[in-house]
Amino acid sequence: MSTFTLNNLCYSYGSRQRDVISNLNYVFEDSKVYSIIGKSGAGKTTLLSLLSGLVKPTKGSILYDGNDISKMDPYRYRSNYVGVIFQSFNLLPHLTAIENVVLSMDISGKKITGKKEKAQMLLNSVGLDDATAHRRILKLSGGEQQRVAIARTLSYEPSVILADEPTGNLDGETQTGIINIFQDLAHKEGKCVILVTHSPYVAQMSDMVYELAVKKD
Ligand SMILES: Nc1ncnc2c1ncn2[C@@H]1O[C@H](COP(=O)(O)OP(=O)(O)OP(=O)(O)O)[C@@H](O)[C@H]1O
Ligand SMILES: [Mg+2]
Repeated sequence: MSTFTLNNLCYSYGSRQRDVISNLNYVFEDSKVYSIIGKSGAGKTTLLSLLSGLVKPTKGSILYDGNDISKMDPYRYRSNYVGVIFQSFNLLPHLTAIENVVLSMDISGKKITGKKEKAQMLLNSVGLDDATAHRRILKLSGGEQQRVAIARTLSYEPSVILADEPTGNLDGETQTGIINIFQDLAHKEGKCVILVTHSPYVAQMSDMVYELAVKKD
Protein backbone atom coordinates (compact mmCIF):
# COMPACT_ATOMS: atom_id res chain seq x y z
CA MET A 1 0.00 0.00 0.00
CA SER A 2 1.31 3.48 -0.76
CA THR A 3 2.28 5.52 2.27
CA PHE A 4 3.28 8.73 0.50
CA THR A 5 2.22 10.08 -2.87
CA LEU A 6 3.93 13.26 -4.05
CA ASN A 7 1.95 15.33 -6.54
CA ASN A 8 4.10 17.81 -8.48
CA LEU A 9 5.87 18.66 -5.24
CA CYS A 10 7.84 21.94 -5.34
CA TYR A 11 9.73 23.78 -2.65
CA SER A 12 11.76 27.00 -2.61
CA TYR A 13 13.30 28.81 0.35
CA GLY A 14 11.74 32.27 -0.04
CA SER A 15 9.28 33.37 -2.70
CA ARG A 16 11.76 34.66 -5.30
CA GLN A 17 14.30 31.87 -4.92
CA ARG A 18 14.72 29.00 -7.37
CA ASP A 19 12.98 25.70 -6.63
CA VAL A 20 15.14 23.34 -4.57
CA ILE A 21 12.52 20.62 -5.07
CA SER A 22 10.86 20.77 -8.47
CA ASN A 23 7.82 18.79 -9.65
CA LEU A 24 8.49 15.53 -7.85
CA ASN A 25 5.98 12.72 -8.33
CA TYR A 26 7.50 9.99 -6.19
CA VAL A 27 5.53 7.21 -4.51
CA PHE A 28 6.71 5.56 -1.26
CA GLU A 29 5.12 2.27 -0.18
CA ASP A 30 5.08 0.48 3.14
CA SER A 31 7.32 -2.58 3.70
CA LYS A 32 10.11 -1.07 1.60
CA VAL A 33 13.44 0.65 2.19
CA TYR A 34 14.06 3.70 -0.03
CA SER A 35 17.30 5.59 -0.56
CA ILE A 36 17.31 9.23 -1.62
CA ILE A 37 20.62 10.02 -3.28
CA GLY A 38 22.07 13.05 -5.10
CA LYS A 39 24.88 15.58 -4.91
CA SER A 40 25.32 17.96 -2.00
CA GLY A 41 22.71 20.71 -2.34
CA ALA A 42 20.32 18.58 -4.42
CA GLY A 43 17.54 18.96 -1.83
CA LYS A 44 17.66 15.64 0.05
CA THR A 45 17.36 17.08 3.56
CA THR A 46 14.73 19.51 2.27
CA LEU A 47 12.67 16.56 0.98
CA LEU A 48 12.87 14.84 4.40
CA SER A 49 11.72 18.09 6.07
CA LEU A 50 8.72 18.18 3.71
CA LEU A 51 7.85 14.51 4.39
CA SER A 52 8.15 15.07 8.14
CA GLY A 53 5.70 17.99 7.95
CA LEU A 54 8.27 20.46 9.31
CA VAL A 55 7.92 22.63 6.21
CA LYS A 56 5.02 22.97 3.78
CA PRO A 57 5.26 22.62 -0.02
CA THR A 58 5.43 25.83 -2.07
CA LYS A 59 3.41 24.07 -4.78
CA GLY A 60 1.95 20.58 -5.14
CA SER A 61 1.14 18.24 -2.29
CA ILE A 62 2.17 15.22 -0.22
CA LEU A 63 -0.50 12.64 0.53
CA TYR A 64 -0.01 10.37 3.54
CA ASP A 65 -2.35 7.39 3.33
CA GLY A 66 -4.42 9.46 0.90
CA ASN A 67 -4.62 12.57 3.10
CA ASP A 68 -2.87 15.87 2.34
CA ILE A 69 -0.39 16.30 5.20
CA SER A 70 -0.54 20.10 5.04
CA LYS A 71 -4.23 19.78 6.05
CA MET A 72 -3.53 17.43 8.98
CA ASP A 73 -2.79 18.57 12.53
CA PRO A 74 1.04 18.85 12.34
CA TYR A 75 1.57 17.81 15.97
CA ARG A 76 -0.63 14.74 15.61
CA TYR A 77 0.98 13.82 12.29
CA ARG A 78 4.53 14.07 13.62
CA SER A 79 3.93 12.41 16.97
CA ASN A 80 1.88 9.51 15.62
CA TYR A 81 2.98 8.57 12.14
CA VAL A 82 6.53 9.66 11.37
CA GLY A 83 9.80 9.11 13.19
CA VAL A 84 12.74 11.26 12.15
CA ILE A 85 16.37 10.38 12.85
CA PHE A 86 18.56 13.44 12.40
CA GLN A 87 22.22 13.15 11.55
CA SER A 88 23.16 14.80 14.82
CA PHE A 89 20.93 12.29 16.70
CA ASN A 90 19.66 15.01 19.11
CA LEU A 91 20.11 12.76 22.14
CA LEU A 92 20.49 14.22 25.62
CA PRO A 93 24.14 13.48 26.51
CA HIS A 94 23.82 13.38 30.31
CA LEU A 95 20.91 10.93 30.32
CA THR A 96 21.37 7.20 29.84
CA ALA A 97 20.26 5.42 26.67
CA ILE A 98 17.18 4.08 28.48
CA GLU A 99 16.29 7.52 29.85
CA ASN A 100 16.50 9.03 26.35
CA VAL A 101 14.07 6.43 24.99
CA VAL A 102 11.66 6.80 27.94
CA LEU A 103 11.72 10.59 27.51
CA SER A 104 10.63 10.27 23.89
CA MET A 105 7.70 8.01 24.96
CA ASP A 106 6.72 10.67 27.52
CA ILE A 107 6.86 13.43 24.89
CA SER A 108 4.77 11.44 22.37
CA GLY A 109 1.82 11.64 24.78
CA LYS A 110 0.81 8.08 23.87
CA LYS A 111 -0.37 5.75 26.63
CA ILE A 112 2.51 3.28 26.99
CA THR A 113 2.80 0.91 29.95
CA GLY A 114 6.10 -0.40 31.31
CA LYS A 115 8.13 2.31 29.61
CA LYS A 116 11.47 1.39 31.15
CA GLU A 117 11.16 -2.29 30.26
CA LYS A 118 9.99 -1.41 26.75
CA ALA A 119 12.95 0.98 26.31
CA GLN A 120 15.37 -1.71 27.38
CA MET A 121 13.77 -4.22 25.00
CA LEU A 122 13.98 -1.77 22.08
CA LEU A 123 17.65 -1.06 22.83
CA ASN A 124 18.32 -4.82 22.94
CA SER A 125 16.55 -5.21 19.60
CA VAL A 126 18.96 -2.77 17.92
CA GLY A 127 21.93 -4.66 19.35
CA LEU A 128 22.72 -2.80 22.60
CA ASP A 129 23.16 -4.93 25.72
CA ASP A 130 21.76 -3.99 29.15
CA ALA A 131 25.05 -2.55 30.42
CA THR A 132 25.27 -0.21 27.41
CA ALA A 133 21.59 0.72 27.77
CA HIS A 134 22.33 2.00 31.28
CA ARG A 135 25.29 4.14 30.21
CA ARG A 136 25.12 7.88 29.59
CA ILE A 137 25.08 8.95 25.93
CA LEU A 138 28.38 10.83 26.27
CA LYS A 139 30.05 7.52 27.09
CA LEU A 140 28.81 5.75 23.94
CA SER A 141 30.49 5.46 20.53
CA GLY A 142 29.02 7.04 17.37
CA GLY A 143 27.59 3.70 16.20
CA GLU A 144 26.03 3.03 19.62
CA GLN A 145 24.49 6.51 19.69
CA GLN A 146 23.07 5.85 16.22
CA ARG A 147 21.36 2.73 17.59
CA VAL A 148 19.93 4.66 20.54
CA ALA A 149 18.56 7.24 18.08
CA ILE A 150 16.84 4.44 16.12
CA ALA A 151 15.42 2.84 19.31
CA ARG A 152 14.14 6.23 20.44
CA THR A 153 12.36 6.76 17.12
CA LEU A 154 10.78 3.28 17.31
CA SER A 155 9.54 3.88 20.86
CA TYR A 156 6.26 5.49 19.80
CA GLU A 157 5.71 3.07 16.89
CA PRO A 158 5.67 5.33 13.81
CA SER A 159 4.65 3.84 10.44
CA VAL A 160 7.29 5.85 8.60
CA ILE A 161 10.95 6.22 9.46
CA LEU A 162 12.91 9.09 7.92
CA ALA A 163 16.68 9.13 8.47
CA ASP A 164 19.23 11.68 7.24
CA GLU A 165 22.59 9.98 6.53
CA PRO A 166 22.05 7.28 9.17
CA THR A 167 25.33 5.55 8.43
CA GLY A 168 27.59 8.57 7.87
CA ASN A 169 30.85 8.20 9.85
CA LEU A 170 30.31 4.51 10.66
CA ASP A 171 32.68 1.66 9.79
CA GLY A 172 31.58 -0.96 7.26
CA GLU A 173 30.47 -3.61 9.74
CA THR A 174 28.48 -1.19 11.91
CA GLN A 175 26.93 0.26 8.74
CA THR A 176 25.77 -3.22 7.69
CA GLY A 177 24.27 -3.77 11.17
CA ILE A 178 22.30 -0.53 10.97
CA ILE A 179 21.07 -1.28 7.44
CA ASN A 180 19.92 -4.73 8.58
CA ILE A 181 17.84 -3.06 11.32
CA PHE A 182 16.15 -0.82 8.71
CA GLN A 183 15.55 -3.81 6.40
CA ASP A 184 13.88 -5.76 9.23
CA LEU A 185 11.69 -2.77 10.11
CA ALA A 186 10.46 -2.61 6.50
CA HIS A 187 10.32 -6.28 5.55
CA LYS A 188 9.21 -7.82 8.88
CA GLU A 189 7.26 -4.97 10.49
CA GLY A 190 5.81 -3.36 7.36
CA LYS A 191 7.23 0.11 7.92
CA CYS A 192 8.12 2.57 5.18
CA VAL A 193 11.80 3.45 5.63
CA ILE A 194 13.26 6.44 3.76
CA LEU A 195 17.01 7.04 4.04
CA VAL A 196 19.08 9.91 2.70
CA THR A 197 22.53 8.62 1.86
CA HIS A 198 25.79 9.35 0.06
CA SER A 199 26.77 5.68 0.36
CA PRO A 200 26.50 3.53 -2.82
CA TYR A 201 26.44 0.48 -0.51
CA VAL A 202 23.36 1.70 1.41
CA ALA A 203 21.66 2.56 -1.90
CA GLN A 204 22.39 -0.91 -3.23
CA MET A 205 20.92 -2.52 -0.08
CA SER A 206 17.61 -0.65 -0.43
CA ASP A 207 14.56 -1.74 -2.40
CA MET A 208 14.29 1.46 -4.44
CA VAL A 209 16.49 4.47 -5.12
CA TYR A 210 15.36 8.00 -6.02
CA GLU A 211 18.02 10.40 -7.30
CA LEU A 212 17.58 14.14 -6.87
CA ALA A 213 19.44 16.47 -9.26
CA VAL A 214 20.90 19.86 -8.33
CA LYS A 215 18.70 22.58 -9.85
CA LYS A 216 20.43 25.25 -11.98
CA ASP A 217 19.48 28.94 -11.67
N1 LIG B 1 17.17 27.47 5.30
C1 LIG B 1 17.60 27.64 4.05
N2 LIG B 1 17.47 28.84 3.42
C2 LIG B 1 17.86 29.02 2.15
N3 LIG B 1 18.41 28.04 1.39
C3 LIG B 1 18.56 26.82 1.95
C4 LIG B 1 18.16 26.55 3.31
N4 LIG B 1 18.43 25.26 3.59
C5 LIG B 1 18.97 24.74 2.47
N5 LIG B 1 19.05 25.67 1.49
C6 LIG B 1 19.56 25.46 0.12
O1 LIG B 1 18.72 24.50 -0.52
C7 LIG B 1 19.51 23.59 -1.31
C8 LIG B 1 19.21 22.16 -0.88
O2 LIG B 1 19.66 21.98 0.47
P1 LIG B 1 19.58 20.58 1.21
O3 LIG B 1 20.06 20.78 2.59
O4 LIG B 1 18.20 20.01 1.03
O5 LIG B 1 20.62 19.72 0.34
P2 LIG B 1 21.14 18.22 0.54
O6 LIG B 1 20.84 17.48 -0.72
O7 LIG B 1 20.60 17.66 1.80
O8 LIG B 1 22.73 18.42 0.63
P3 LIG B 1 23.84 17.63 1.53
O9 LIG B 1 24.14 16.35 0.78
O10 LIG B 1 25.01 18.57 1.50
O11 LIG B 1 23.30 17.43 2.90
C9 LIG B 1 20.96 24.04 -1.16
O12 LIG B 1 21.30 24.83 -2.27
C10 LIG B 1 20.94 24.85 0.12
O13 LIG B 1 21.94 25.86 0.08
MG1 LIG C 1 21.49 17.12 3.66
